Amino acid sequence: MNFVTLNNGIKMPQLGFGVWKVDNEVVTSAVAKALEVGYRSIDTAMIYRNEEGVGKAIKESGIPREDLFITTKVWNSDQGYDKTLKAYDESLKRLGLDYVDLYLIHWPTPEYDEYVDTYKAMEKLYKDGRVRAIGVCNFEIEHLQRLLDECEVTPVLNQVECHPYFAQDEIKDFCAKHDIFVEAWSPLDNGGEVLQDEKIRQIADAHGKTNAQVILRWHLQNNTITIPKSVTPSRIEENFNVFDFELSEEEMRIIDSLDRGARRGAHPNEMNVR
Ligand SMILES: NC(=O)c1ccc[n+]([C@@H]2O[C@H](COP(=O)([O-])OP(=O)(O)OC[C@H]3O[C@@H](n4cnc5c(N)ncnc54)[C@H](OP(=O)(O)O)[C@@H]3O)[C@@H](O)[C@H]2O)c1
Repeated sequence: MNFVTLNNGIKMPQLGFGVWKVDNEVVTSAVAKALEVGYRSIDTAMIYRNEEGVGKAIKESGIPREDLFITTKVWNSDQGYDKTLKAYDESLKRLGLDYVDLYLIHWPTPEYDEYVDTYKAMEKLYKDGRVRAIGVCNFEIEHLQRLLDECEVTPVLNQVECHPYFAQDEIKDFCAKHDIFVEAWSPLDNGGEVLQDEKIRQIADAHGKTNAQVILRWHLQNNTITIPKSVTPSRIEENFNVFDFELSEEEMRIIDSLDRGARRGAHPNEMNVR
């Protein structure tokens, strides 16, 4: 496992396990499999409605808490200073934990303009020692700039949609300049076309690997943190087996050239659902 050091000095596994769209009933066995394979970072959210099942898998694993890195997120309807503090306590309760490693704003929802207050509540949690790190998801450069201007704690990372067909180079450049990691969600294009891409397949064949493994390797070599999701045991394992090969500069360049701006999810400025 590779670890990265976040801007507040704490270490985070560069490869984690995502659990979006995994029902609470299914998530416990999926997370148990991931932990058995070696993943130590789990990415959930209040809105995934599976924090309880994630917590159950953590408890049953017997893995020391300090060896795990658990992320959850404040949902749009819980934004605002007081509501965020309450939402954090409720997430902890569902997870059965007394802290999470990373608490994130799920979407900026600019229409409501509450993300600065929300972030200030997260700064309080951080300064009170109740969470090890704080950050954001789906923040465009203008949203990040506002936090940098109006708040004190630089987010440790920005979790955004990112895969070879939607490479997010501008956000990557901005984040790198400000010591903020990019964490890729839908790193495998949510199971989409990129897994069949012919150019990636040629690279995969040359290494005796799959398209998914090559794509994850591309993320890792770009210094991106990532959190692929799967409920299929063989894929959970496959996605973890990416530390025994390396892409050449030429192979990285070929994958870089596949970017076609193909966003799969919502644009953050248009995602104001509560
Ligand atoms: N902050 C946000 O707004 C946000 C938004 C979206 C996602 N996320 C986070 O990012 C995580 C990952 O994103 P994601 O779930 O959208 O998509 P993803 O990890 O890009 O892809 C998951 C899909 O690909 C399939 N898959 C996984 N590994 C595979 C492999 N080796 N070969 C072939 N197919 C494979 C999975 O199928 P099976 O499960 O059937 O195996 C699933 O359908 C989420 O779970 C969540 O934690 C965050």
